Amino acid sequence: MQYATEENLTDLALKRWEACHSPRLREIMQSLVKHVHEFVREVDLKEDEWLTGEWLTGMNWLAKTGQLSSDKRHEFILLSDVLGVSMLVDGINHRFPTGATPSTVMGPFHIKDSPELPMGTDLGAGLAGTPCFVLGMIRDLNGKPIAGAKLDVWQADAYGMYESQLGGTEPLLRAIFRTGPDGKYLIRTIAPPGYSIPMDGTVGDLMRATDISHFRPAHIHFYISAPGYQPLITHLFKKDARYIDSDVVFGVKEQLIAEFKQQPSGKTPTGEDSSKPFYVVNYDFTLSK
Ligand code: BEZ
Ligand code: FE
Repeated sequence: MQYATEENLTDLALKRWEACHSPRLREIMQSLVKHVHEFVREVDLKEDEWLTGEWLTGMNWLAKTGQLSSDKRHEFILLSDVLGVSMLVDGINHRFPTGATPSTVMGPFHIKDSPELPMGTDLGAGLAGTPCFVLGMIRDLNGKPIAGAKLDVWQADAYGMYESQLGGTEPLLRAIFRTGPDGKYLIRTIAPPGYSIPMDGTVGDLMRATDISHFRPAHIHFYISAPGYQPLITHLFKKDARYIDSDVVFGVKEQLIAEFKQQPSGKTPTGEDSSKPFYVVNYDFTLSK
C-alpha cells in the first residue's frame, strides 16, 4: 500500500478510479481528478478558500448553488453558461457543415410542450412591446424548403422576463409552429429586449464580485426539428442590439444576427393594418442532415 503524500496524491486518486464500472465515467472522472488537482496546485488553494471560509468559498458556494437548483431553476446550468462551458459543449457537439445555421445555447427558460398554434398567431396579443414579425423559410443545404418542420419558439417579454420567472398559469410568449409544403414560417410577436441573467442566486453573487456584464443582447429562441435533419437549437439576435458584443453567455454568432427592420404603421406581413410601427425580420434557417 502506498500512503498519500502531496506529490503522489494525484496518481493515487487517478488509480482509484480504475475501479469505475463504466469506461466513459472512468474517463470523465479521471480527467476531472487530474484537472481539479492541477487547479488546486496552480492557485495554491488555501483551506479557508475551499472548506472553512464564508460564502465565496468553494464548498459553501457549491452547496448553496445545489440548494437553489430545482426543475424550475437551473443555477448550475447558469454557472456553465457564464463560464463559457455551455457554448463549448455546444460547439463540440454541433459541428454543422458550412452553410447550415449554427446553434447556440438553449438557456434555462425553455418549457416543453408549448401549444401548437397556426402560423401568424399573435404571441404578443395584449402584451406591452413593439409588434414584431419574423418570417422566412426552413430549408436544407441545397435551398430546398423543408415541409413539416417544427419550430418551438420562446422569448422574454418587454421587461426581459420569461414565463418561468413570472410563474403565470398560461403559456407566455412561447409556441410551436409547423411549416407547410413551402417550408415557410411566420411568427407574430413583440420585439424582445436585452435582459440580465438571474442575479438573485449564487451566480449573481459571483458576478457581483467582478465587472463582467451580466446582460444578454435581445434575441428570440428557436428549437427547430424535422424528420431526417439534425435538430437546431439557436437564437436570432437583433442587429446592433445593446450587449451584442458582450453577451454574458458567449452565445452570439455572426450568422445569427438579423436585422429587425423598423416599419411605420400600416400593412403588416399578416395582412392587417397596424396602428403602431413594427419590426420585420427576414431570416431563413438551414438544417443539415
Ligand atoms: C437565455 O437566453 O434564455 C439564457 C441563456 C443562458 C443563461 C441565461 C439565459
Ligand atoms: Fe433568452
